[in-house]
Amino acid sequence: MKMNANYENLQDSYLFARIGQKVREYKAKNPNADVISLGIGDVTLPLAPAVIEAMQRAVAEMAHEKTFRGYGDYQGEIFLREAVQNYYAGKNVQLELDEIFISDGAKSDCGNLLDIFECPCTALIPAPVYPVYVDTNIMAGNRIVYANGSEENHFLPMPDYAVDTNLIYLCSPNNPTGAVYSHAQLEAWVNYALEKDAVILFDGAYEIFVQDELPTSIFQIPRARECAIEICSFSKTAGFTGTRCGYTVIPSALQRGGVSLNKMWLRRQTTKFNGVSYITQRGAEAALSPTGLTQIKENIRYYQQNARLILDAMRARNIPCIGGQNAPYVWLKCPQVASSAETRHTSWAFFDHLLESANIVGTPGEGFGLDGYFRLSAFAKRENVLRAMERFPTA
Ligand code: MLT
Repeated sequence: MKMNANYENLQDSYLFARIGQKVREYKAKNPNADVISLGIGDVTLPLAPAVIEAMQRAVAEMAHEKTFRGYGDYQGEIFLREAVQNYYAGKNVQLELDEIFISDGAKSDCGNLLDIFECPCTALIPAPVYPVYVDTNIMAGNRIVYANGSEENHFLPMPDYAVDTNLIYLCSPNNPTGAVYSHAQLEAWVNYALEKDAVILFDGAYEIFVQDELPTSIFQIPRARECAIEICSFSKTAGFTGTRCGYTVIPSALQRGGVSLNKMWLRRQTTKFNGVSYITQRGAEAALSPTGLTQIKENIRYYQQNARLILDAMRARNIPCIGGQNAPYVWLKCPQVASSAETRHTSWAFFDHLLESANIVGTPGEGFGLDGYFRLSAFAKRENVLRAMERFPTA
Protein backbone atom coordinates (compact mmCIF):
# COMPACT_ATOMS: atom_id res chain seq x y z
CA MET A 1 0.00 0.00 0.00
CA LYS A 2 1.47 3.37 -1.00
CA MET A 3 0.28 6.56 0.64
CA ASN A 4 -0.67 9.77 -1.13
CA ALA A 5 2.81 11.20 -1.65
CA ASN A 6 1.38 14.65 -2.32
CA TYR A 7 0.91 15.06 1.45
CA GLU A 8 4.69 15.23 1.70
CA ASN A 9 4.47 18.56 -0.10
CA LEU A 10 2.22 20.10 2.58
CA GLN A 11 3.37 22.22 5.50
CA ASP A 12 3.54 20.11 8.68
CA SER A 13 0.23 21.42 9.97
CA TYR A 14 -2.75 23.49 8.86
CA LEU A 15 -2.24 27.21 9.55
CA PHE A 16 -4.82 27.58 12.32
CA ALA A 17 -3.84 24.26 13.91
CA ARG A 18 -0.24 25.51 14.09
CA ILE A 19 -1.36 28.77 15.70
CA GLY A 20 -3.52 26.87 18.20
CA GLN A 21 -0.55 24.69 19.12
CA LYS A 22 1.76 27.69 19.58
CA VAL A 23 -0.79 29.41 21.81
CA ARG A 24 -1.31 26.26 23.92
CA GLU A 25 2.45 25.97 24.40
CA TYR A 26 2.72 29.63 25.40
CA LYS A 27 -0.14 29.29 27.90
CA ALA A 28 1.39 26.14 29.40
CA LYS A 29 4.57 28.11 30.09
CA ASN A 30 2.69 31.26 31.17
CA PRO A 31 -0.44 30.05 32.94
CA ASN A 32 -1.39 33.52 34.19
CA ALA A 33 -1.09 35.23 30.82
CA ASP A 34 -4.28 36.99 29.72
CA VAL A 35 -4.13 35.99 26.06
CA ILE A 36 -6.57 37.70 23.67
CA SER A 37 -7.28 36.01 20.35
CA LEU A 38 -7.62 38.09 17.21
CA GLY A 39 -6.33 35.07 15.29
CA ILE A 40 -8.69 32.54 13.72
CA GLY A 41 -11.87 34.14 12.42
CA ASP A 42 -14.16 32.53 14.96
CA VAL A 43 -17.38 34.29 15.94
CA THR A 44 -18.05 35.18 19.58
CA LEU A 45 -21.65 36.46 19.63
CA PRO A 46 -24.38 33.88 20.33
CA LEU A 47 -26.79 32.66 17.65
CA ALA A 48 -29.62 35.08 16.84
CA PRO A 49 -32.87 34.58 18.83
CA ALA A 50 -34.81 33.69 15.64
CA VAL A 51 -32.27 30.92 14.92
CA ILE A 52 -32.44 29.53 18.46
CA GLU A 53 -36.27 29.53 18.44
CA ALA A 54 -36.37 27.72 15.09
CA MET A 55 -33.86 25.12 16.27
CA GLN A 56 -35.80 24.57 19.50
CA ARG A 57 -39.01 24.05 17.51
CA ALA A 58 -37.14 21.56 15.30
CA VAL A 59 -35.86 19.66 18.36
CA ALA A 60 -39.45 19.45 19.65
CA GLU A 61 -40.58 18.05 16.27
CA MET A 62 -37.97 15.31 16.55
CA ALA A 63 -39.55 14.22 19.85
CA HIS A 64 -42.88 13.20 18.28
CA GLU A 65 -43.68 10.33 15.97
CA LYS A 66 -45.79 12.48 13.65
CA THR A 67 -43.18 15.18 13.13
CA PHE A 68 -39.99 13.14 13.55
CA ARG A 69 -37.62 13.16 10.52
CA GLY A 70 -35.03 10.66 9.39
CA TYR A 71 -32.72 11.17 6.39
CA GLY A 72 -33.29 14.48 4.65
CA ASP A 73 -33.05 15.50 1.00
CA TYR A 74 -29.51 14.85 -0.28
CA GLN A 75 -29.31 18.32 -1.76
CA GLY A 76 -30.68 20.02 1.34
CA GLU A 77 -34.22 20.59 2.59
CA ILE A 78 -36.45 22.45 0.15
CA PHE A 79 -37.38 25.04 2.82
CA LEU A 80 -33.71 26.04 3.22
CA ARG A 81 -33.02 26.02 -0.51
CA GLU A 82 -36.06 28.30 -0.96
CA ALA A 83 -34.67 30.63 1.72
CA VAL A 84 -31.30 30.75 -0.13
CA GLN A 85 -33.16 31.32 -3.43
CA ASN A 86 -35.00 34.31 -1.88
CA TYR A 87 -31.76 35.67 -0.41
CA TYR A 88 -30.21 35.61 -3.91
CA ALA A 89 -33.33 37.20 -5.43
CA GLY A 90 -32.52 40.11 -3.09
CA LYS A 91 -29.16 40.36 -4.91
CA ASN A 92 -30.95 40.26 -8.30
CA VAL A 93 -29.71 36.73 -8.91
CA GLN A 94 -32.28 34.13 -9.99
CA LEU A 95 -31.45 30.58 -8.96
CA GLU A 96 -33.33 27.32 -9.50
CA LEU A 97 -33.75 25.15 -6.40
CA ASP A 98 -31.76 22.31 -7.96
CA GLU A 99 -28.81 24.66 -8.43
CA ILE A 100 -28.41 25.01 -4.64
CA PHE A 101 -26.65 22.36 -2.52
CA ILE A 102 -26.76 22.67 1.28
CA SER A 103 -23.46 21.72 2.94
CA ASP A 104 -21.89 21.57 6.38
CA GLY A 105 -19.80 24.64 5.58
CA ALA A 106 -17.70 26.27 2.89
CA LYS A 107 -14.46 24.55 3.85
CA SER A 108 -15.66 21.00 3.17
CA ASP A 109 -17.17 21.83 -0.20
CA CYS A 110 -14.14 23.88 -1.14
CA GLY A 111 -11.95 20.80 -0.76
CA ASN A 112 -14.45 18.17 -1.88
CA LEU A 113 -15.27 19.91 -5.16
CA LEU A 114 -11.93 18.72 -6.53
CA ASP A 115 -13.58 15.25 -6.69
CA ILE A 116 -15.43 16.21 -9.88
CA PHE A 117 -12.40 17.53 -11.79
CA GLU A 118 -9.73 15.45 -13.45
CA CYS A 119 -6.62 15.81 -11.31
CA PRO A 120 -3.80 16.62 -11.60
CA CYS A 121 -4.85 19.85 -13.25
CA THR A 122 -3.74 23.45 -12.92
CA ALA A 123 -5.25 25.74 -10.30
CA LEU A 124 -4.80 29.51 -10.33
CA ILE A 125 -4.84 30.76 -6.76
CA PRO A 126 -4.53 34.34 -5.60
CA ALA A 127 -2.04 35.16 -2.88
CA PRO A 128 -2.54 36.04 -0.13
CA VAL A 129 -5.63 33.91 0.41
CA TYR A 130 -7.42 31.34 2.60
CA PRO A 131 -4.90 28.45 2.89
CA VAL A 132 -7.48 25.72 2.21
CA TYR A 133 -7.31 26.35 -1.56
CA VAL A 134 -3.57 25.73 -1.63
CA ASP A 135 -3.57 22.76 0.75
CA THR A 136 -6.41 20.91 -1.01
CA ASN A 137 -4.77 21.38 -4.41
CA ILE A 138 -1.44 20.13 -3.06
CA MET A 139 -3.24 17.06 -1.67
CA ALA A 140 -4.73 16.43 -5.13
CA GLY A 141 -1.30 16.76 -6.75
CA ASN A 142 -2.38 19.76 -8.80
CA ARG A 143 -0.03 22.33 -10.28
CA ILE A 144 -0.57 25.69 -8.62
CA VAL A 145 0.02 29.02 -10.26
CA TYR A 146 -0.31 32.14 -8.15
CA ALA A 147 -1.91 35.47 -8.96
CA ASN A 148 -0.05 37.81 -6.67
CA GLY A 149 -1.80 40.49 -4.70
CA SER A 150 0.27 43.46 -3.60
CA GLU A 151 -0.09 47.03 -2.46
CA GLU A 152 0.28 48.07 -6.12
CA ASN A 153 -2.84 46.17 -7.23
CA HIS A 154 -4.63 46.83 -3.92
CA PHE A 155 -4.45 43.08 -3.22
CA LEU A 156 -6.81 42.44 -6.13
CA PRO A 157 -4.76 40.51 -8.72
CA MET A 158 -6.19 40.43 -12.23
CA PRO A 159 -5.99 37.72 -14.92
CA ASP A 160 -2.91 37.29 -17.05
CA TYR A 161 -3.83 35.76 -20.44
CA ALA A 162 -0.32 34.34 -20.77
CA VAL A 163 -1.20 31.96 -17.92
CA ASP A 164 -3.28 28.86 -18.71
CA THR A 165 -5.34 27.25 -16.01
CA ASN A 166 -8.22 24.84 -15.39
CA LEU A 167 -9.46 26.14 -12.04
CA ILE A 168 -9.55 29.71 -10.75
CA TYR A 169 -10.06 30.46 -7.06
CA LEU A 170 -11.51 33.85 -6.17
CA CYS A 171 -12.29 35.01 -2.64
CA SER A 172 -14.19 38.29 -2.44
CA PRO A 173 -14.27 39.87 0.10
CA ASN A 174 -10.80 38.46 0.38
CA ASN A 175 -9.63 36.54 3.38
CA PRO A 176 -7.19 37.86 4.69
CA THR A 177 -6.94 41.32 3.09
CA GLY A 178 -10.61 42.34 3.07
CA ALA A 179 -10.22 43.60 -0.53
CA VAL A 180 -13.35 43.27 -2.71
CA TYR A 181 -13.44 42.95 -6.49
CA SER A 182 -15.52 45.49 -8.41
CA HIS A 183 -18.11 44.49 -10.99
CA ALA A 184 -15.69 45.33 -13.83
CA GLN A 185 -12.88 43.31 -12.25
CA LEU A 186 -15.07 40.24 -11.79
CA GLU A 187 -16.25 40.64 -15.37
CA ALA A 188 -12.60 40.47 -16.45
CA TRP A 189 -12.18 37.22 -14.48
CA VAL A 190 -15.33 35.74 -16.02
CA ASN A 191 -14.11 36.63 -19.53
CA TYR A 192 -10.74 35.08 -18.79
CA ALA A 193 -12.35 31.87 -17.44
CA LEU A 194 -14.55 31.60 -20.54
CA GLU A 195 -11.55 32.14 -22.81
CA LYS A 196 -9.50 29.48 -20.99
CA ASP A 197 -12.46 27.08 -20.61
CA ALA A 198 -11.65 27.18 -16.87
CA VAL A 199 -14.00 26.97 -13.89
CA ILE A 200 -14.09 29.70 -11.22
CA LEU A 201 -14.55 28.58 -7.61
CA PHE A 202 -15.90 31.75 -6.02
CA ASP A 203 -15.76 31.87 -2.24
CA GLY A 204 -18.34 34.33 -0.93
CA ALA A 205 -18.09 33.42 2.75
CA TYR A 206 -17.76 37.08 3.77
CA GLU A 207 -20.33 38.61 1.37
CA ILE A 208 -22.59 39.91 4.16
CA PHE A 209 -19.81 42.27 5.31
CA VAL A 210 -19.81 44.25 2.05
CA GLN A 211 -20.93 47.81 2.83
CA ASP A 212 -19.82 49.55 -0.38
CA GLU A 213 -21.59 49.23 -3.74
CA LEU A 214 -19.66 46.12 -4.77
CA PRO A 215 -20.71 42.67 -6.00
CA THR A 216 -21.65 40.11 -3.35
CA SER A 217 -22.09 37.17 -5.75
CA ILE A 218 -20.22 36.09 -8.89
CA PHE A 219 -23.64 35.47 -10.42
CA GLN A 220 -24.22 39.23 -10.52
CA ILE A 221 -21.76 39.14 -13.43
CA PRO A 222 -23.08 38.31 -16.93
CA ARG A 223 -22.18 34.80 -18.17
CA ALA A 224 -20.82 33.70 -14.77
CA ARG A 225 -23.43 30.93 -14.87
CA GLU A 226 -21.38 29.35 -17.67
CA CYS A 227 -18.10 29.26 -15.77
CA ALA A 228 -18.53 29.61 -12.01
CA ILE A 229 -19.41 27.77 -8.83
CA GLU A 230 -20.16 29.82 -5.71
CA ILE A 231 -19.39 28.55 -2.20
CA CYS A 232 -21.00 30.24 0.81
CA SER A 233 -21.39 29.69 4.48
CA PHE A 234 -23.53 30.58 7.48
CA SER A 235 -20.39 30.51 9.67
CA LYS A 236 -19.56 34.19 9.53
CA THR A 237 -22.96 35.35 8.25
CA ALA A 238 -24.99 33.90 11.11
CA GLY A 239 -22.42 32.76 13.68
CA PHE A 240 -22.55 29.08 12.63
CA THR A 241 -18.83 28.23 13.02
CA GLY A 242 -19.77 25.61 15.62
CA THR A 243 -23.24 24.85 14.24
CA ARG A 244 -22.05 24.02 10.69
CA CYS A 245 -24.07 24.94 7.62
CA GLY A 246 -23.27 26.39 4.21
CA TYR A 247 -24.30 26.10 0.60
CA THR A 248 -22.81 25.76 -2.85
CA VAL A 249 -24.41 27.01 -6.05
CA ILE A 250 -23.69 25.12 -9.27
CA PRO A 251 -25.67 26.55 -12.20
CA SER A 252 -27.27 24.12 -14.63
CA ALA A 253 -25.63 26.11 -17.45
CA LEU A 254 -22.17 25.10 -16.20
CA GLN A 255 -20.99 22.31 -18.50
CA ARG A 256 -17.58 21.11 -19.58
CA GLY A 257 -17.07 18.60 -22.39
CA GLY A 258 -20.85 18.19 -22.57
CA VAL A 259 -21.00 17.16 -18.90
CA SER A 260 -23.12 19.02 -16.32
CA LEU A 261 -21.08 19.89 -13.23
CA ASN A 262 -24.31 20.19 -11.28
CA LYS A 263 -25.25 16.58 -12.10
CA MET A 264 -21.75 15.36 -11.25
CA TRP A 265 -21.78 17.14 -7.90
CA LEU A 266 -25.22 15.68 -7.13
CA ARG A 267 -23.85 12.23 -7.96
CA ARG A 268 -20.88 12.85 -5.70
CA GLN A 269 -22.94 14.20 -2.82
CA THR A 270 -25.56 11.43 -2.93
CA THR A 271 -22.73 8.91 -2.54
CA LYS A 272 -20.51 10.68 -0.03
CA PHE A 273 -22.74 13.08 1.96
CA ASN A 274 -25.94 12.58 3.93
CA GLY A 275 -26.73 16.21 4.50
CA VAL A 276 -26.83 18.63 7.41
CA SER A 277 -29.02 17.92 10.42
CA TYR A 278 -32.67 18.96 10.12
CA ILE A 279 -32.35 21.07 13.27
CA THR A 280 -29.41 23.02 11.84
CA GLN A 281 -31.16 23.54 8.51
CA ARG A 282 -34.21 24.99 10.33
CA GLY A 283 -31.81 27.35 12.13
CA ALA A 284 -30.21 28.42 8.85
CA GLU A 285 -33.64 28.98 7.29
CA ALA A 286 -34.54 31.23 10.23
CA ALA A 287 -31.28 33.19 9.79
CA LEU A 288 -32.47 34.16 6.29
CA SER A 289 -36.03 35.10 7.40
CA PRO A 290 -36.80 38.85 7.64
CA THR A 291 -36.50 38.79 11.46
CA GLY A 292 -33.42 36.57 11.33
CA LEU A 293 -31.70 38.82 8.79
CA THR A 294 -32.34 41.89 10.95
CA GLN A 295 -30.85 40.10 13.93
CA ILE A 296 -27.78 38.67 12.18
CA LYS A 297 -27.06 42.04 10.54
CA GLU A 298 -27.03 43.55 14.03
CA ASN A 299 -24.23 41.11 14.93
CA ILE A 300 -22.39 41.93 11.69
CA ARG A 301 -22.51 45.65 12.64
CA TYR A 302 -20.94 44.81 15.99
CA TYR A 303 -18.03 43.06 14.24
CA GLN A 304 -17.75 45.93 11.77
CA GLN A 305 -17.43 48.37 14.68
CA ASN A 306 -14.69 46.13 16.11
CA ALA A 307 -12.89 46.32 12.76
CA ARG A 308 -13.18 50.10 12.85
CA LEU A 309 -11.57 50.17 16.32
CA ILE A 310 -8.71 47.98 15.09
CA LEU A 311 -8.18 50.17 12.00
CA ASP A 312 -8.17 53.33 14.12
CA ALA A 313 -5.65 51.82 16.55
CA MET A 314 -3.32 50.79 13.70
CA ARG A 315 -3.52 54.22 12.09
CA ALA A 316 -2.85 55.92 15.42
CA ARG A 317 0.38 53.87 15.50
CA ASN A 318 1.25 54.66 11.88
CA ILE A 319 1.00 50.99 10.94
CA PRO A 320 -0.05 50.72 7.28
CA CYS A 321 -3.23 48.64 6.99
CA ILE A 322 -6.23 47.88 4.78
CA GLY A 323 -9.47 45.89 5.05
CA GLY A 324 -11.94 46.19 7.89
CA GLN A 325 -14.50 48.10 5.82
CA ASN A 326 -16.05 45.26 3.78
CA ALA A 327 -14.67 42.33 5.74
CA PRO A 328 -14.09 41.32 9.37
CA TYR A 329 -10.30 41.34 8.92
CA VAL A 330 -7.67 44.07 9.11
CA TRP A 331 -4.52 43.41 7.07
CA LEU A 332 -1.43 45.23 8.22
CA LYS A 333 2.20 45.52 7.35
CA CYS A 334 4.33 43.95 10.09
CA PRO A 335 6.06 46.64 12.06
CA GLN A 336 9.80 45.96 12.26
CA VAL A 337 10.37 43.89 15.35
CA ALA A 338 13.69 44.38 17.13
CA SER A 339 15.13 41.28 18.75
CA SER A 340 18.36 41.11 20.68
CA ALA A 341 20.29 39.50 17.82
CA GLU A 342 18.74 40.94 14.69
CA THR A 343 15.91 43.00 13.29
CA ARG A 344 13.21 40.46 12.62
CA HIS A 345 10.45 41.28 10.26
CA THR A 346 8.84 38.07 9.15
CA SER A 347 5.22 37.61 10.03
CA TRP A 348 5.89 34.58 12.27
CA ALA A 349 8.47 36.62 14.18
CA PHE A 350 5.86 39.34 14.59
CA PHE A 351 3.37 36.68 15.73
CA ASP A 352 5.81 35.58 18.48
CA HIS A 353 6.60 39.16 19.44
CA LEU A 354 2.91 40.11 19.70
CA LEU A 355 2.10 37.01 21.74
CA GLU A 356 5.05 37.42 24.09
CA SER A 357 5.05 41.20 24.53
CA ALA A 358 1.30 41.94 24.45
CA ASN A 359 -0.40 38.53 24.80
CA ILE A 360 -2.27 39.10 21.54
CA VAL A 361 -2.79 36.34 18.96
CA GLY A 362 -3.02 37.27 15.27
CA THR A 363 -2.39 35.41 12.03
CA PRO A 364 0.91 35.70 10.14
CA GLY A 365 0.63 36.72 6.49
CA GLU A 366 2.98 33.90 5.53
CA GLY A 367 0.20 31.46 6.39
CA PHE A 368 -1.88 33.08 3.64
CA GLY A 369 1.02 33.13 1.20
CA LEU A 370 2.49 36.59 1.81
CA ASP A 371 5.14 37.25 4.38
CA GLY A 372 5.72 40.65 5.96
CA TYR A 373 2.00 41.17 6.61
CA PHE A 374 -0.34 40.21 9.42
CA ARG A 375 -4.08 39.67 9.90
CA LEU A 376 -6.19 40.74 12.86
CA SER A 377 -9.71 39.36 13.21
CA ALA A 378 -12.61 41.56 14.32
CA PHE A 379 -14.67 38.62 15.58
CA ALA A 380 -13.61 39.03 19.22
CA LYS A 381 -15.76 40.44 22.02
CA ARG A 382 -15.73 44.25 22.15
CA GLU A 383 -14.00 44.44 25.52
CA ASN A 384 -11.23 42.17 24.25
CA VAL A 385 -10.76 44.24 21.11
CA LEU A 386 -10.49 47.38 23.23
CA ARG A 387 -8.02 45.79 25.65
CA ALA A 388 -5.96 44.34 22.80
CA MET A 389 -5.77 47.70 21.06
CA GLU A 390 -4.58 49.39 24.25
CA ARG A 391 -1.79 46.85 24.54
CA PHE A 392 -0.84 46.76 20.86
CA PRO A 393 2.81 47.80 20.44
CA THR A 394 3.73 50.95 18.53
CA ALA A 395 5.51 50.53 15.19
C1 MLT B 1 -10.12 32.15 9.15
O1 MLT B 1 -9.77 32.56 10.25
O2 MLT B 1 -9.54 32.44 8.10
C2 MLT B 1 -11.28 31.24 9.09
O3 MLT B 1 -11.99 31.28 10.26
C3 MLT B 1 -10.87 29.87 8.86
C4 MLT B 1 -12.00 29.09 8.35
O4 MLT B 1 -13.07 29.63 8.03
O5 MLT B 1 -11.82 27.87 8.20
